[in-house]
Amino acid sequence: MKKLLFVCLGNICRSPAAEGIMQQKVTQSRLKDQVYCDSAGTSGLHLGDPADARMTRAAKKRGYELLSRSRPVALSDFSEFDLILAMDRSNEKNLKELCPSKEYLKKIVLMCNFCQQFKESEVPDPYYGGESGFEFVIDLLEDACDGLLKNLEANKENV
Ligand code: 4NP
Repeated sequence: MKKLLFVCLGNICRSPAAEGIMQQKVTQSRLKDQVYCDSAGTSGLHLGDPADARMTRAAKKRGYELLSRSRPVALSDFSEFDLILAMDRSNEKNLKELCPSKEYLKKIVLMCNFCQQFKESEVPDPYYGGESGFEFVIDLLEDACDGLLKNLEANKENV
C-alpha cells in the first residue's frame, strides 16, 4: 500500500481537493486498493471543518466529492506516509521544518512536480480570491494527479 498525504495551509481548499481528485483517479485505475489518500494542513486553524463551500462546489462541477475534515499535520505522518505532497513552497518549507527526522525529508515534494501540461510550480492559494481561482486549482490538480498516478503505475513515485 502506497500512502499519499496532500498538504496545504488550512486543509479546507487545495489539499482536500487533491485528496478527492486523486482518490477518484486511483479508484478508477488498476492501483485501486493499493493507494491510500489523506490530507492535512500545516495550520490547525480549521480543525474539524469540511472543505470550503467554494472548493466543494468547484469540485462537484467536475464530478469530485470532497468528504474529508480538516486536521493539522501530525509528526507521525512523516513516518506513516510514503509521499507528502506540498501545494506550494511555503507549505513545503513548513513541512521541512516540522519533519522530525532527516530520513523523511525526501518524502516531501511539490505537487506541481507531477504536472504534465501546466508549467506552474505551485498550486496557488484560492482562499481570498474569486471563483476562477478555485477552478484553476482543479485544473492544476487534475494534471498533477494524472502525472502522479502515471508515476505510481510505473512504480517510481519520486520525480
Ligand atoms: P488552503 O486555503 O490552504 O488551500 O486550505 C486556505 C484556507 C484558509 C486560510 C488560508 C488558506 N486561512 O487563512 O484561514
